[in-house]
Amino acid sequence: MGDLRKAAKGCRRCPLWRDATQTVFGEGPEGASVVFVGEQPGDQEDIAGKPFVGPAGKVFDAVLDEAAIDRQKTYVTNAVKHFKFEPRGKRRIHSKPNAGEIQACRWWLDKELALTKPSLVVALGATAAQSLLGKAVPITKMRGQLIEREDGLRIFLTIHPSFILRIRDAEDKEAERGRFLDDMRAVKGLMR
Ligand code: URA
Repeated sequence: MGDLRKAAKGCRRCPLWRDATQTVFGEGPEGASVVFVGEQPGDQEDIAGKPFVGPAGKVFDAVLDEAAIDRQKTYVTNAVKHFKFEPRGKRRIHSKPNAGEIQACRWWLDKELALTKPSLVVALGATAAQSLLGKAVPITKMRGQLIEREDGLRIFLTIHPSFILRIRDAEDKEAERGRFLDDMRAVKGLMR
């Protein structure tokens, strides 16, 4: 994985490298049985150079913990390896990667999966699902489902943890967090 990670530092497969600080490559042991795939690094991940270390990562960590999944034993990555944003004053506002950017970056994700050879991949949100399945899927309808790809790879679909952060109503937020925890418990049950 080291060579791949090094090569990804200089990625020019799409224009997103121009404004981002650095490539944020996946992290975790090469033989991990589970790979989690997010959307793209956020503001804090772009600076730290590590996936899921910002606010969404905190939710992710806490829920994994409650589901008794040890993150250190999993491989965590993103469908898109550079932060895409719109500058707004001093802030950088997350902007969704488009189909071309997802497709361009799938090259790296495929290589990460080929090296890791997981028995289960968890798509965190619509962008990850689109990258892994090669087409857009309605994630809120399909979350909780396990899909077997033509190559035999098992893909578990769930929401992105940042979806929970965006819910304003406290009760609704708690309910969605509970559903995400249920999904992570299902993942734990599917781990081999
Ligand atoms: N959101 C993601 O999809 N990935 C990260 O690494 C951080 C936030």
